[in-house]
Amino acid sequence: MEFFDTHCHINDKRFRDDLAETVDRAREQYVLNMVTIGTSLATSQRCVEIAQQFDAVHAAVGIQPNCAHEASPTDWESVVALLDEDSVIALGETGLDRYWDDCPFDIQEDFFDRHLRLSQQRDVPFIVHMRECGDDVLRMLTEARRRAPLLGVMHSFTGDLELMQACVELGMYISFAGMVTFKKSDALREVAAAVPAERLLIETDAPYLSPEPMRKQRRNEPQLVIHTAKCLAEVRRESYEELAQQTTKNAKIFFRLEQ
Ligand code: NI
Repeated sequence: MEFFDTHCHINDKRFRDDLAETVDRAREQYVLNMVTIGTSLATSQRCVEIAQQFDAVHAAVGIQPNCAHEASPTDWESVVALLDEDSVIALGETGLDRYWDDCPFDIQEDFFDRHLRLSQQRDVPFIVHMRECGDDVLRMLTEARRRAPLLGVMHSFTGDLELMQACVELGMYISFAGMVTFKKSDALREVAAAVPAERLLIETDAPYLSPEPMRKQRRNEPQLVIHTAKCLAEVRRESYEELAQQTTKNAKIFFRLEQ
């Protein structure tokens, strides 16, 4: 049995003192692959460094919607150049966010559009952050889908059934993080139960929001993805082994790590 944490931020300073131990702890739980993902040029570069250091770690590079207004004019070109690194397997985080008021929305849309076009030009998967703007994300994905197929994932999905189905129809994968395990998340668990098996992914989004029953652990980390897997197996009435096998296989296909 093995697991794939498709989204974490082990580049975060909270992992500075025990990064190697964090990766080891994950491997002990059979989390044999993880993607550490950037939110800016600097964090993307750091993700690449870490991925070069550990076989189990891969990097995603991009400029997150809440950081887009802080990117200098040359930052985007530098992110594009990082795609040439062997350890870089995806673009992100990208997407849109109406919850935080940090970055003007038109700048967010511009950067989301750049990631989408680059993904299509270079045939690299992209990772979408979405907060309180499902309709806007859907509009931009639909627009992009008219140009070419989409190879993308809705990360830490929290939308409703309708949005999930619309995303799946566009070709997107759906990934769940710790939030799906929370007691109050019955509606989200129903959505998770309905995702087609071949489109389902799991993640921690570490260091944020540890899954139950480890929610009290303030710093989430990749090894805890097994709890999200357990929860999803229950709601989908699948065995734990089946869920692990399917989501790992999906991740390897999505990130092109397997023929
Ligand atoms: Ni994230």
